[in-house]
Amino acid sequence: MREVAVIGTGMTNFGELWGKSIKDIFVEAALGAIESAGVDHIDSIYVGSMSSGLFVGQEHLGAVMADYLGQNPIPATRVESACASGGVAFRAAYHEVASGASDFVLAGGVEKMTDGADVTAALATAADQEYEVYQGVTFPGLYALIANAHMHEFKTKRENLAQVAVKNHLNGLNNPNAQFRSKITVDQVLNSTLVADPLRLLDCSPVSDGGAAVILCPLDIAKKIKATSVRVKATSQASGTIALHSRKSLTTIDAVKIAAEKAYKMSGLKPGDINFAEVHDCFTIAEIVVTEDLGFFKKGKGGSAVAEGKTSMDGVIPINSSGGLKSKGHPVGATGIAQIIELYEQLTGQAGKRQIKNAKIGLAQNMGGSGASCVINILEAI
Ligand code: COA
Repeated sequence: MREVAVIGTGMTNFGELWGKSIKDIFVEAALGAIESAGVDHIDSIYVGSMSSGLFVGQEHLGAVMADYLGQNPIPATRVESACASGGVAFRAAYHEVASGASDFVLAGGVEKMTDGADVTAALATAADQEYEVYQGVTFPGLYALIANAHMHEFKTKRENLAQVAVKNHLNGLNNPNAQFRSKITVDQVLNSTLVADPLRLLDCSPVSDGGAAVILCPLDIAKKIKATSVRVKATSQASGTIALHSRKSLTTIDAVKIAAEKAYKMSGLKPGDINFAEVHDCFTIAEIVVTEDLGFFKKGKGGSAVAEGKTSMDGVIPINSSGGLKSKGHPVGATGIAQIIELYEQLTGQAGKRQIKNAKIGLAQNMGGSGASCVINILEAI
């Protein structure tokens, strides 16, 4: 297998992009990535998208995007793994380059969620229809069950959940692409509209439009063409039970733990070697559980870690310097690629006001649904 590098990135603003179609959004991100990589062609395209059919009535996204990007007849493949679609698209592109099948591959993700579709119902197709959705449970409801279990089992405080949102909104202030660039307080979170007890409006990632894309190529070619590059140190993926009731524990996401073990093995790294991470904070409790399952904190200590500032920009392991899904936004298919872009910007010293000092190794964790799929990518500065 060849070593692989990321050599260019492009993304749209995340938010309510009323004036742009799903095609406009993807093409804007993809052209940005191609231009920033400085390449004169690409060999193949992967498009991560969770539910373009339900959100905007458009399927066949690989072909649609190749066409609108002016890239016919190169192969273009749509990848779907619910909210992990972007991260899995990146992993597919990695394998195509690492195997020697292609040199320049574009991995992108896109979603257009604000065009009037029943978003809650569309998102719920990523959960177990028979055992969860038909009974009336939504995604905020599923994560509320996890939050209640974590608070019961580990005495995690309600305020700890709020502190995740406050931190991520603070980070998002310095991200020009973020949907919500607003400072919020713990009180505001605790007094925002109740969505699914104990989760409130400001514990939830929003409904968003957005696109993101990166270009991958073999590391030796990246060096030859003098591209601004970062090395892909590891990629891993795991699956877990769809329905929460099938899990041994509500407070551990096995797919995250297993994908993390694989990523650490592939990279030869330990959790303590990771300088910063972008994790899937679709709801505030998700960040707490995931930072434990990634091995950054002991099980049950993720909540107090936030309170103690360990995950803040100047903490032992800054989490979600981009603002995370909470503040940056969560156009589901684009999220995993946007996480890679944050890693790239940090590792190449291009993160501006949110630059993390001595950022050498970053980890991106992206998951589908309530954690039935998880993909982890570890990137290293060169
Ligand atoms: N964070 C911060 N502000 C938010 C927000 C969020 N998650 N969602 C909406 N807002 C703001 C809106 O901008 C709007 O502000 P305005 O009145 O100043 O314009 C206000 O809150 C009301 O917005 P609205 O769109 O009417 O909210 P809603 O009740 O329709 O939706 C949620 C709120 C939380 C239900 C929705 O954002 C949601 O479903 N989020 C979860 C998405 C999800 O499940 N993703 C997949 C994860 S697995």
